[in-house]
Amino acid sequence: MEKVHLINHILIDHKIAILRDENTKCKQFREVVEEIAMLETLEVLKDAPTKTISVKTPLEIVEQKVIMENSIVIVPILRAGLGMVNGVTAMLPSVKVGHIGIARNEETLEPIEYMCKLPKNIENKMVIVLDPMLATGGSACAAIQALKDRGVTNIKMLNILGVPEGIKKVTETHPDVDIYIAKIDRCLNEKGYILPGLGDAGDRIFGTK
Ligand code: PRP
Ligand code: URA
Repeated sequence: MEKVHLINHILIDHKIAILRDENTKCKQFREVVEEIAMLETLEVLKDAPTKTISVKTPLEIVEQKVIMENSIVIVPILRAGLGMVNGVTAMLPSVKVGHIGIARNEETLEPIEYMCKLPKNIENKMVIVLDPMLATGGSACAAIQALKDRGVTNIKMLNILGVPEGIKKVTETHPDVDIYIAKIDRCLNEKGYILPGLGDAGDRIFGTK
């Protein structure tokens, strides 16, 4: 389990309660997904590629560690992962953004990839896959495999809610991938929804139901 990083903070818990509430409207839901992603970014970047630069303060020159420029790419899984993009880019404004479109077949729950558009030279970058929900783990595994097929070796998953079976599937299929997640819920229902969960994240972010 050392590849699973539970981001445990009362401020994130507080915001997850807002997401869980069935009365939370689309605008607030979207804003809070962004805010949680922004807070989670602090944790996932603990492993970011760094370099040391010299900075001249008004008093002295100091050696200062910074994030290596052009070393990180984020890849939201469409649609719901899009809701996390602005939260991450608020912290990392110049990060490049790839997109992977994956939808679950509503009956079989199997992931279907319908688009993939990634920045050039992605294979040398630390790639952070964004998706608020890790349910069966099928979409996450498909996205990670799509990146590996294109030569990416440094992959991190950033989720908000997951369940043990989805986490197990990802860690068994891709033991090299770190998962950063804010909350691990109880289980899936017969339709593949996380319990207690927050419902369909894509529909709640985009107001499609
Ligand atoms: C949701 C969610 C994840 C996926 C998780 O997407 O955003 O991508 O389900 O489920 P899994 O772990 O069982 O694969 P969905 O397929 O509903 O598409 P959407 O984001 O377009 O609503
Ligand atoms: N995808 C969602 O959006 N919600 C769930 O509970 C499971 C998968």
